[in-house]
Amino acid sequence: MAMADQHWHDYNKNGKKDVFEDPAQPVEDRVEDLLSQMTLEEKLGQLSQIVMEANSDEIHAEHLRRGRVGSFLPAWEAIGKPDLRNRLQRIAVEESRLGIPFLMGFDAIHGYRTVFPIPLGLSASWEPELFNRVQETTAFEATAAGIDWSFAPMVDLARDPRWGRISEGFGEDPYLGCLYAAASVKGFQGDDPVDRRRVVSCLKHYVGYGAAEGGRDYNTTDISEYNLRNNYLPQFRAGVEAGAMTVMAAFNCLNGIPASGNRHTLTDILRKEWGFQGFVVSDWASVLELIEHGLADGPAEAARFALEAGVDMEMVTSSYIDTLGEQVASGKVSLETIDNAVRNVLRIKFRRGLFENPYVDERWQESAFLAPEALRLAREAAVKSCVLLKNEGNCLPLKTDGLKIALIGPLVSEREELLGSWAGFGKGRDVVTLEEGFRAKLGLDACLTVCRGCGLTKGRRTITRTDGSVVEDPDAPIDEVAEQEFTDAVEAARNADVVVLALGEPRGWSGENATRTELGLTGRQEELFQAVASVGKPLVVVLFGGRPMSVVSLQEKADALLMAWQPGVQGGHALADLLFGDASPSGKLTASFPRSVGQVPVHYNGFNTGRPQYRDYRDSTHLPLYPFGHGLTYTTFEYSPVELSSPSLSRGGKLTASCTVTNSGDRPGTEIVQLYIRDVAASRVRPIRELKGFAKIELMPGESRRVSFEIGDEQLRFFDENGNELVEPGVFHVWICKDSASGKPAVFELQ
Ligand code: NOJ
Repeated sequence: MAMADQHWHDYNKNGKKDVFEDPAQPVEDRVEDLLSQMTLEEKLGQLSQIVMEANSDEIHAEHLRRGRVGSFLPAWEAIGKPDLRNRLQRIAVEESRLGIPFLMGFDAIHGYRTVFPIPLGLSASWEPELFNRVQETTAFEATAAGIDWSFAPMVDLARDPRWGRISEGFGEDPYLGCLYAAASVKGFQGDDPVDRRRVVSCLKHYVGYGAAEGGRDYNTTDISEYNLRNNYLPQFRAGVEAGAMTVMAAFNCLNGIPASGNRHTLTDILRKEWGFQGFVVSDWASVLELIEHGLADGPAEAARFALEAGVDMEMVTSSYIDTLGEQVASGKVSLETIDNAVRNVLRIKFRRGLFENPYVDERWQESAFLAPEALRLAREAAVKSCVLLKNEGNCLPLKTDGLKIALIGPLVSEREELLGSWAGFGKGRDVVTLEEGFRAKLGLDACLTVCRGCGLTKGRRTITRTDGSVVEDPDAPIDEVAEQEFTDAVEAARNADVVVLALGEPRGWSGENATRTELGLTGRQEELFQAVASVGKPLVVVLFGGRPMSVVSLQEKADALLMAWQPGVQGGHALADLLFGDASPSGKLTASFPRSVGQVPVHYNGFNTGRPQYRDYRDSTHLPLYPFGHGLTYTTFEYSPVELSSPSLSRGGKLTASCTVTNSGDRPGTEIVQLYIRDVAASRVRPIRELKGFAKIELMPGESRRVSFEIGDEQLRFFDENGNELVEPGVFHVWICKDSASGKPAVFELQ
């Protein structure tokens, strides 16, 4: 007898099914039937998510029997243990009064065991369909390990590379962000939420989290309603429209009201305007943090504010289950509010099919991991994520034979570093290093010298600051071993025909709570770069990082610069494919790279000032080091002027903007052709350019292709501060170009 059947029979001890037990009944009827049988404690239990510890079965069992656990998320030691999940689930299903199964949530962000490039990297492929496949694989592996629900995608717009979590999102553009949000939700959930190979997805962090002041994680945000509607909300709406079943409320304070207690965003917009039917989970302890924010005077008030604002489930803290019972009894909180939150949670459990299939197949786990097709996808994803920032004199691709190559830098043989932050259940041992990628490509008799040169951060003695953070002591001498390693690297460069330097920032310097004030290379790497560059050999830099980086000296002195992000388990193979020309770079940046921190924010889609001629700094240009949309390849493309099918269009009408793109180089290549629009005069100021479409095309040498985009209301609309869509008559500019900083606009008028 299959496990699900067994469970079915247990339900029917008296031979009669309740409505909620019958999968043939409509979900809403099942929800109401179950709700009508629940005690208040059981209801609050459904609103509680607690941490699953590996060795606390008895404590968990006690809670489960009383129906006090709506969801678990695993502690570190409990990750990847489907047997533990089944054991505890059996208690929930068989030993609690109503047998309501729990949902198992986890951060499967860019892979579970097969770790893919970080989301910011994947967005640089401008291929939402690729991201869809990545998340489908993530879901498949995660479900095998007992996960029902992934806390992803992170769809926060981010314009500040100091903010470490820029690595988890899709960059600075809302249009691209919407496509990635939807692709991710579909990849996780598929079309059938009952499918055991899929997971429930969670749009996070609602909302405005990426606008943290100073780039400091968790920090306050102040975002006008107009800005919110046009830049921060659309990605969430796209995710909701794609069917996302859950949303996570953010940590940040938004316009004076913390996002986890913000009724305007959680109820007025999410539920009432958009009709969201799933449930909202808080972020980790963000309900209780309403006290620290200064909104609530204690756990009871925090719970009340969060619940009434629209947070249905509390993550890890227990203010709901501890205080809401009493608050209902005293009339402070209405039972109706609790019931609505419980409905939202139960609805998703029924839709997920959790009641029919509460268990996972424990034998499945290992065989589901790192499958050949998953590794092929990881390699493809890494190839397509990398962005060629510079390639002077066609330095790349390198020849595979006859070259003496020095492979230098702290990241040449690193494994964990390539996984990036939120690496799921990923293991360093699964990673193909850059060195291994080179050796696999070049064979045994390759003339390859490998040395580290320096560490990512070490080299000098460290000191512990009063706040507990550990930094290098700039006054301490470099130790002798480090000095020798450094000298050896420069010597290796001298003896080589070409140098490949693998530099970057440590993976722990991006992700959650990983803000930086400087965006350059860490430790002694700048010094190493300068020393190696002064040798004068052709110099290729492979740059690893979780954010846009300010690497002006690399742009000035390296011959070629390839942004590799954190490329995941197949990183070494993918990079070797690109560097030696078996594949060509095709990624384009989705977040501008500033020349210095002082330029931040430097996103492409800002407003004009009244004096655009005065944009520069006294000590720097206003232009970024690399603009949004920038990315080169091993061939070149030429764009003809933009042509319009008509100089005007009327409301509801369409016109076509076209141009001819020609591969003017001598290698095949992929180009991401970008459509930008500017609303020149409107009732509210609009950005100097906004991405409104793109096409990824492959052209053989000499080949030309006509690329056309349809323009209508959808491309011309924007939101006012109340969320109304406006399409306003007047003049528009339209560019079809290779990045956000190039091209000449054509002009049309909307009548
Ligand atoms: C806190 C993070 O902000 C969020 O993104 C994550 O999903 C939760 N912790 C759970 O790990």
